[in-house]
Amino acid sequence: MAKNMHSYIDDHKGVLIEEDSLRPEGLREALKSTIFSNNISLFESTDSTNGQAKDLCVQGAPEGTLVLAEQQTAGRGRRGRTWQSPGRVNLLLSIVLRPPIEPERAFVLTMILALAAGDGVSDICGLRPVIKWPNDLYVGGRKLAGILTEFSVKENRIEYMVLGMGLNVNWDPDENPDILNPATSLLRETGHRINREDLLVRIMKHFDESYKILLSGKIMGFYRKWNKRSMVLGQEVEVESDGKILQGTARKIDKKGALILRDSQGTDREILHGDVSLRPLGNHH
Ligand code: BTN
Repeated sequence: MAKNMHSYIDDHKGVLIEEDSLRPEGLREALKSTIFSNNISLFESTDSTNGQAKDLCVQGAPEGTLVLAEQQTAGRGRRGRTWQSPGRVNLLLSIVLRPPIEPERAFVLTMILALAAGDGVSDICGLRPVIKWPNDLYVGGRKLAGILTEFSVKENRIEYMVLGMGLNVNWDPDENPDILNPATSLLRETGHRINREDLLVRIMKHFDESYKILLSGKIMGFYRKWNKRSMVLGQEVEVESDGKILQGTARKIDKKGALILRDSQGTDREILHGDVSLRPLGNHH
């Protein structure tokens, strides 16, 4: 057991408690100067934190609502996929925002969450995750975290937005290997367990700081940072988008969050959604 993990039996409930368990009171205190100070809910188990957050939005949940779960029974990924995570070892969260921006700019919020998560990971354990377009965090060629952004538009404004993230922390993904989409975790990369609460607090503080900068209108810095951390730029890639396979060189990620791909004729194409993979050497025409 790592030094930051202490287990004991709770006298009242007779259950095994780990000090690493997420505790809403501790989080509220640690996040009191942020937009997340007032509305943190933690589910021991729920279908999907994004689903819960959306329900709360419909009931009028304010910006800064944070929904956490120790386990999800129907975790959702991008493009209709599922998100798998065993209980009590990873971070599963959804953030509610009501940003005063046009829907075309929505992607910048996903960007700041990915940047905040990368910075939080660096603070806590020194790793430097890269961003794989559109919004995955990778370490050593394996997926560490994924983000699912969902939002509702009313009169060309974002009515509410839910940013959901799953981040693999103390899980050993080699126990259930996914050969096609290999995953990693902080435990796998560092060799030791990480205190999830400390990590969550770091991430949410980075996010809060960036969100306030964004609301003040200064967004260019985020695009620069995002492009700098992107693992695909300058690379020969293959993108699967709307059932088509496109090949070319990844040039940049633009303000809409679209990937700009230069094809073999030298034409730049804007790709709004899809899955990107690096093309293996020897497969270029
Ligand atoms: C992806 O990589 O496809 C995105 C995965 C997003 C998973 C997170 S886990 C917390 C939140 N609730 C969900 O149902 N999905 C997101």
